[in-house]
Amino acid sequence: MCGIVAYVGRKIAQPLLIEGLKRLEYRGYDSAGVAVIDKDNKLHIRRAVGRISVLENSVLQTPLPPSQVGMAHTRWATHGAPTEVNAHPHTDDGGRIALVHNGIIENYVALKQFLTEKGHTFTSQTDTEVLAMLIGDLYTDIKAANHLPPGASLLQRAVQAALHEVEGTYGIAVICKDEPDTLVVARKGSPLIIGVGQNEYVVASDASAIVEHTTQVIYLNDNEMAVLKPDSFRTMTIDDINVSPVIQQLENKLEEYELGDYEHYMLKEIFEQPTAVRNCLRGRVDQREGRIVFGGLANHTRELVKAKRYILTGQGTAWHAGLVGDYLMEDNAKVVTECTYASEFRYRNPIVEEDTVLVAISQSGETADTLAALREAKEKGAMALGVVNVVGSTIARETDGGIYLHAGPEIGVASTKAFTCQCVVLTLLSLFLGRRRLMSQTQCHEMIDGLCAIPDQMERVLKQSDHIKEIAGKFCDRENWLFLGRGYHYPIALEGALKLKEISYIHAEGMPAAEMKHGPIALINEGMPVVFIATKGVQYDKVISNIEEVRARGGHIIAVATEGDTQIKRYSNHVIYVPDAIEGLQPLLSVVPLQLLAYHAAVARGCNVDKPRNLAKSVTVE
Ligand code: M6R
Repeated sequence: MCGIVAYVGRKIAQPLLIEGLKRLEYRGYDSAGVAVIDKDNKLHIRRAVGRISVLENSVLQTPLPPSQVGMAHTRWATHGAPTEVNAHPHTDDGGRIALVHNGIIENYVALKQFLTEKGHTFTSQTDTEVLAMLIGDLYTDIKAANHLPPGASLLQRAVQAALHEVEGTYGIAVICKDEPDTLVVARKGSPLIIGVGQNEYVVASDASAIVEHTTQVIYLNDNEMAVLKPDSFRTMTIDDINVSPVIQQLENKLEEYELGDYEHYMLKEIFEQPTAVRNCLRGRVDQREGRIVFGGLANHTRELVKAKRYILTGQGTAWHAGLVGDYLMEDNAKVVTECTYASEFRYRNPIVEEDTVLVAISQSGETADTLAALREAKEKGAMALGVVNVVGSTIARETDGGIYLHAGPEIGVASTKAFTCQCVVLTLLSLFLGRRRLMSQTQCHEMIDGLCAIPDQMERVLKQSDHIKEIAGKFCDRENWLFLGRGYHYPIALEGALKLKEISYIHAEGMPAAEMKHGPIALINEGMPVVFIATKGVQYDKVISNIEEVRARGGHIIAVATEGDTQIKRYSNHVIYVPDAIEGLQPLLSVVPLQLLAYHAAVARGCNVDKPRNLAKSVTVE
């Protein structure tokens, strides 16, 4: 999705802004732009379609004048095609105000009409230009009325007045050539973080663009804004009520955002899974006592244990983790659980009875639908928990309690380590509740021991990357794949298919193996790759029967099986072995080969693995 980086301080803004944009690249975008104000108070804007390198080359060839205030943006087109005129920053028609914006101005048509009738002319099709125009128009009006107390920022007043007229969501940064030492930022529904440095502020929609400058940050809340100058800052609501800023320490270090020796972030993150899982477990399992400890939930234990119903929700990969969680909660905690797409839940006027807990699962903590589902459930009286990776994200802050993944930054658009950590957290939650309900100490002990063994077991799976690459190479030219599994492996089949389609553009479907006979079997023809998750478990024999059915129709079987299972070779063309584990923990191992299969297939097809076409890392619009 769109990205913002803005600066005010003593350094030259342009290189810093371009570097910041590169850090936001992973979020997905189609055009980019930068704006600065020079020492003669002139506004300079440069925009380009395509990669940030295009914008960078443009400013390298013809640099913008030195400036100590500026802002930059990566745009992911919503209103209007990805063209240079539609790229941000946008200005008012007087060229006084420049603005970058994430989010959507829902009433932009009415505002545009109003401003057009007042004589303003627009150059783009965007909703953002309307907001820039409105701020510029109000700036002129407020200035003419001459009502401003001495020392007050006219830009601040104009932004506040404009935001009162706006319906929709925004994270914005605004500069004005008449106030060249001031940066105004505001948020509602779209994240903005203020990095607080020595006589400088770096504002961004994502901590990755801040961390190399400072680790001291302020997370703006909805309806809050800040007026930043090199040697002073003020935070307030858009109604101009002062807000005492809370300065927090960023959790992640710069190295965690770097690619290191890996070719792609996705590969790095797949290989980081053993460490990510160890970090996720750290301090939360007492292996000796067989207990789960959640600092963040200490005040909610009673409510959580007596809850009658759990709703797990999320989108994409997070929803798949929720499906795994659904099985875990019913198996371990013996509590009624359902997993539902957040986008469906939010609009279906859901029945939320007393003693319901909604668990919002999200890597970014900013997914619009998941956030809306969370708000809907809270509105109806549910308690809300967050299973989130990004510390300080909106979902993390709006839930009543939460469990962070501690997976470290996930930059690759295809979610990998966040998925396994989401499954780990949901396992822990199911054990936390289970032990306080019906689960015996022995059962809980077994699960905890099994969980603690997972990181080492994952390392064994990762060693097979070359073998998996060979398999991927054999089938990467096939345009249709099926992924099948039963029980805990049904969500893994979905996840394997999603990974493959999103980065390699191969059409892939995942489903419960039993569902195949109800229609999809018609697709199977000679040589079609069909991936079965066929680890040892209660439904193993049934999976073997399904494999036979596919083989009989010419399908090519790629089986993910349990180490030591030699009989599976009789039924399969290719086998990838994973270590044995308790059934509820097997998804943590069986998903890894599928991530590698998708990765190697995409690389073999020459796809841009970390930035797949049309995709954004976090989907902050509906
Ligand atoms: O940040 P979130 O976990 O809320 O994101 C949810 C989905 O958008 C995300 O998992 C998406 O499906 C990924 N591209 C999957 O790899």
